[in-house]
Amino acid sequence: MRAAAEMGVNIPKLCATDSLEPFGSCRLCLVQIDGRRGYPASCTTPVEDGMVVHTETAKLSDLRRGVMELYISDHPLDCLTCPANGDCELQDMAGVVGLRNVRYGQEGANHLSEQADESNPYFTYDPSKCIVCSRCVRACEEIQGTFALTISGKGFGSRVEAGQGVPFLESDCVSCGACVQACPTSSLQENTIIQMGQPEHAVITTCAYCGVGCGFRAEMKGDQVVRMVPWKDGKANEGHSCVKGRFAWGYATHKDRITKPMIRKSIQDPWQEVSWEEAISYAASEIRRIQQQYGVGSVGGITSSRCTNEETYLVQKMVRAAFGNNNVDTCARVCHSPTGYGLGQTYGTSAGTQTFKSVDKSDVIMVIGANPTDAHPVFGSRLKRRLRQGAKLIVIDPRRIELVKSPHVRAEHHLQLRPGTNVAVLNALAHVIVTEGLLDEAFVAERCDDRSFTDWLEFIRRPENSPEATAEVSGVPAAELRAAARLYATGSSAGTAGDIAKGRVNSAIYYGLGVTEHAQGSTAVMAIANLAMLTGNIGREGVGVNPLRGQNNVQGSCDMGSFPHELPGYRHISDSTVRGEFEAAWGVRLDPEPGLRLPNMFDAAIAGSFLGLYCQGEDIVQSDPNSQHVAKALMAMECVIVQDIFLNETARYAHVFLPGSSFLEKDGTFTNAERRLSRVRQVMAPLGGYADWEVTQMLANALGLPMDYGHPSEIMDEIAALTPTFRGVSFEKIDRLGSVQWPCNENTPEAGLETMHVGGFVRGKGRFLITRYVPSEEKVTRRFPLLLTTGRILTQYNVGAQTRRTDNNVWHPEDRLEIHPVDAEDRGICDGDWVGVTSRAGSTVLRAQLSERMQPGTVYTTFHFPESGANVITTDSSDWATNCPEYKVTAVQVSLVTQPSEWQREYSRFREEQDRLLAQASAAAVVTG
Ligand code: SF4
Ligand code: SF4
Ligand code: SF4
Ligand code: FES
Repeated sequence: MRAAAEMGVNIPKLCATDSLEPFGSCRLCLVQIDGRRGYPASCTTPVEDGMVVHTETAKLSDLRRGVMELYISDHPLDCLTCPANGDCELQDMAGVVGLRNVRYGQEGANHLSEQADESNPYFTYDPSKCIVCSRCVRACEEIQGTFALTISGKGFGSRVEAGQGVPFLESDCVSCGACVQACPTSSLQENTIIQMGQPEHAVITTCAYCGVGCGFRAEMKGDQVVRMVPWKDGKANEGHSCVKGRFAWGYATHKDRITKPMIRKSIQDPWQEVSWEEAISYAASEIRRIQQQYGVGSVGGITSSRCTNEETYLVQKMVRAAFGNNNVDTCARVCHSPTGYGLGQTYGTSAGTQTFKSVDKSDVIMVIGANPTDAHPVFGSRLKRRLRQGAKLIVIDPRRIELVKSPHVRAEHHLQLRPGTNVAVLNALAHVIVTEGLLDEAFVAERCDDRSFTDWLEFIRRPENSPEATAEVSGVPAAELRAAARLYATGSSAGTAGDIAKGRVNSAIYYGLGVTEHAQGSTAVMAIANLAMLTGNIGREGVGVNPLRGQNNVQGSCDMGSFPHELPGYRHISDSTVRGEFEAAWGVRLDPEPGLRLPNMFDAAIAGSFLGLYCQGEDIVQSDPNSQHVAKALMAMECVIVQDIFLNETARYAHVFLPGSSFLEKDGTFTNAERRLSRVRQVMAPLGGYADWEVTQMLANALGLPMDYGHPSEIMDEIAALTPTFRGVSFEKIDRLGSVQWPCNENTPEAGLETMHVGGFVRGKGRFLITRYVPSEEKVTRRFPLLLTTGRILTQYNVGAQTRRTDNNVWHPEDRLEIHPVDAEDRGICDGDWVGVTSRAGSTVLRAQLSERMQPGTVYTTFHFPESGANVITTDSSDWATNCPEYKVTAVQVSLVTQPSEWQREYSRFREEQDRLLAQASAAAVVTG
């Protein structure tokens, strides 16, 4: 079938698709082959040299019509009113085979009266339309890897079932939509198609949720999105999706969107709706007033990892060139800044080394402090597929994440360490590799810096780094750790130096915020980089060091110069040559001194020297640690300008609100965790009238910095001209190639570089750095005897501002505190009880969820709902190099309670008051007409 298709001959089919393995159940694709008897199914018959195949004969037509008659005799004849009308393969094939009548009628036994399953909020399963082709079952297994569906029964009684015959919502289904996409009929159908009908046109764009950066076809009716379909040619996802990108886009037109600019003198005042001109001019005058009164450095800006590269670039440009200081930072400060630092120091560049498809060539995969099936689901599915093909898995995580054991996937080793001990474990892994002679001496000799290696070798050999010595602190049994080290270095848990001589395996490391968000986050990243160099696992496909980036454009926001010490392309602001290029292009003098980081801005605000903030697309009150400290800092400021799509928690402390635009309302690019730049394309007009880049441009102009970009492509042209690693990037090229990966310049292939550090590191020789384990100051005590660690779940996203405004809430309506039954019993806590969680920073109340995914002594929660206040408890302890907060380690006490915490009561009061002040703005607008 595939060979024929490649020659332009399409054979009728129903159970085959090019994204699934051939199955051979529908019998529509029958062909005749010279010299063979019968009518084999072309989808399952391998092509052979010299084979003569007849795809259209009178006999084949007859047989196909017969097959189709049988299907249609058990299928509703409601094509005209069916939501799939015009997009149904059964309908198409009936036409192709020339079906004219159905001899069997519809009077016999059939499935036409079966009830539809409408339990899933996003799609409906209507068994009456099912032709039992198994495409859905196979998509769930082969593409998504969840194994939620089966065909139950036999023959005429066969039907698709979710789980053990339960409604979809109660099954293991994670609502990725792969089955819906695979279904050739309307049996599995998106509810939006049922409600709105078939789309009229489509625009290719990029998901605005996580760092996988999936490509999507936004299918539209006029300017309304009808459906988001994962784009087959999207290189990051190759036609797959998760529940967020596929279904959770309704927030873009949610009634909570604020589309009118608003201002107020104080946060006790009601909001006042004003024109864009008035809002911009007020914001600009306040920034200048504050600077005149308190100094040039008394204001700053925050760029957004949710916004496009072009928007992020403009914000940092405005801060540096119009504010006249370098007080610009981004949310990467609180997630992956240690990645930037750690990989920069060891390899010379601050990004992952591979493409996602590289994992298809890995033999051993080590996942550290990441939970890809929840936080990077499309990559998680790809990784699981590779594991089902036989790759081996090591998980290093305090929790028993899904990858440790799920259908057809089982980690060879789960090193269930205590939170805060990553560096001890990573050092012990390296210690085993060195002392058991499992290192790649040739790679180290050729590619790495001698001196740094010699120093590091002396350090890592020390007995204090042995698994036996570190077991006590990390809780990881020494034998298990030794086996994991051998597996990573040799491909076998019992591997020896002799195995290496037979040939190296490909071992890859994927890590997440469970590595970076620690007091030793940067140290852990360097320890990971050391491990990969030590074993020669860098510089080819299937290996590497891969940070799984959290937000859609966190890589891009870092690349674009969002940090106070770096201009775009990670070049230090103190470098006069680089600074000179920007000064010439921007026509201003730039301050050579790095500006304030986010936590320093908060401290300076409380100290009275930082009074004005422009915050684009970032909810620092909910997402940053020690929320009460952040709120106090905002209250100390005289002008907080928030640009966002909703009045988020930070906006409740703002004096100027500028309506933001969602990813559907603007053009630009996002850069995913592979360094891949993909296009974001406008499918509807900005609800507030302007895209985010236009708003920043207006503010810059009002501040006296001329900006006159007509389209984001012009901003990218400026970025390319000023940034060597982006020299070859343009919208024209991305539109032509689909996406490009940086570095993309005269030294790389046209679409940029897929694999980094091939043949040599960006910094020249790879540098081993000594990574001494230093216990976190955040220790358990009698007062705070448990360690709290935080993370995400699949259906909610980050601060939840978007996903909480979608039906994703049916899966996760509140944050809960996961606690081990032993710890719960000690405290008299039952599942569902309200519990108080107290740390030295604050106290909140959540509902308890008893879970053995935790180890005793560790509790876990998500931070998707503002009222649960997870970040009221997290402290200001942070990474020594980058100030990335130590979200993953907070010493807490948990106890049964009967009422909300004091913080929660105050939060409710403040929120109600702010809602009232917002309502007054709309009311005033109505009165004034
Ligand atoms: S939506 Fe995804 S997880 Fe759910 S049944 Fe379909 S393929 Fe499986
Ligand atoms: S639900 Fe759709 S994909 Fe699944 S077996 Fe039925 S017709 Fe095929
Ligand atoms: S995996 Fe990430 S980028 Fe892809 S659809 Fe899901 S949230 Fe969007
Ligand atoms: S397409 Fe070949 S048997 Fe169905």
